[in-house]
Amino acid sequence: MSDISPPLTLTSIQVLHQQLLQQLEQVSSLADLEKIRPDLTGKKSPLTHMLKMLGQLPPDARKELGGFLNKVREEVATKLEERFASLQQLALDQKLMQEKQDVSLPPRPETVGKIHPITQVIEEVTQIFAKMGFELAEGPDIEREYYNFTALNFPEDHPARQMHDTFYLPPAYLPPAHDGKELGAVLLRTHTSPVQIHAMRQSAPPLRVLAPGRTYRCDSDATHSPMFHQVEGLVVDKKIHMGHLKACVIDFCQSFFGVRHLKARFRPSYFPFTEPSAEMDIGCLRRDGKLKIGEGDDWLEILGCGMVHPNVLKMGGINPEEYQGFAFGIGIERLGMLKYGIPDLRAFYDSDARWLQHYGFSPFDKPSSRMGI
Ligand code: DAH
Repeated sequence: MSDISPPLTLTSIQVLHQQLLQQLEQVSSLADLEKIRPDLTGKKSPLTHMLKMLGQLPPDARKELGGFLNKVREEVATKLEERFASLQQLALDQKLMQEKQDVSLPPRPETVGKIHPITQVIEEVTQIFAKMGFELAEGPDIEREYYNFTALNFPEDHPARQMHDTFYLPPAYLPPAHDGKELGAVLLRTHTSPVQIHAMRQSAPPLRVLAPGRTYRCDSDATHSPMFHQVEGLVVDKKIHMGHLKACVIDFCQSFFGVRHLKARFRPSYFPFTEPSAEMDIGCLRRDGKLKIGEGDDWLEILGCGMVHPNVLKMGGINPEEYQGFAFGIGIERLGMLKYGIPDLRAFYDSDARWLQHYGFSPFDKPSSRMGI
């Protein structure tokens, strides 16, 4: 068709118009459409050829035929896009029909799925703290600098803001409802601690809040992953002191690791949002390549904690003269590795079905703090 050069008259344009529309009607697959596309609106198509010929016409005829020809070209181009979209939809529908799965089929016993250890550990931790009266809270993965750092008492330009290897995001990722410039840069939260601020602003004390979730840092090696999980705990009430904090986290570890007598120590540490701050270690024994938790002369770092800094309470809208609080943050992957003897962090995210068959949990088990011990 491309080498036909019809004369330029109203009738020839009308004939071509009808031909092109017919061609579009008849085409029945994306591949065929791609094949005829150059003949419809391409550089060498009769339509383009006619447009080029306009220049040779006297002004009046050029105006009349030019206007008509342009309308035809626009219509053909629009119809072409519409046809393209509908054929694309058709191709997708056909593909979906072919790949249809009957989800009502019973599972094949040899391929029963497993619960991922991360899900399992979050369930176990949640169960233990739920028994102590904690409620679940959530915050967004895409956070603002204000909640991730400023409201948690990280000074501006404090090295800790870099220490956290933050993934900063372009402002386009800003959720529409959180547009305020004063909240600072948009980022992937580097810890679950910003949920402390959200929780304090959402409900008045007393508070017992537990917030498991994903966290992100620009760091990747055998012991670090750019995405990992933490669980945050926050208690705010009148007359809360360090004794409450210690009892709470020791109880948790005893329950989680299933040990009655747990050797534990609290090392002074620093977090901008707690004062004083500590890291909790639990005793362990390494023998014959095995790790026994709760006793022995070695120590394992298990969590970070402290008394909520008065500035943080203020940022949460709570009067520090009246209320005190304690907080803690625990790495989920680390808990799972220690409890279930999982040697490599990276395997958690490899989606290797054999790994999951080995380390995963039966979906029919009720998660309990005692499992796996
Ligand atoms: N957010 C800290 C981190 O990611 C962990 C942490 C430490 C949380 C002490 C706390 C806390 O709530 O009190 O390193």
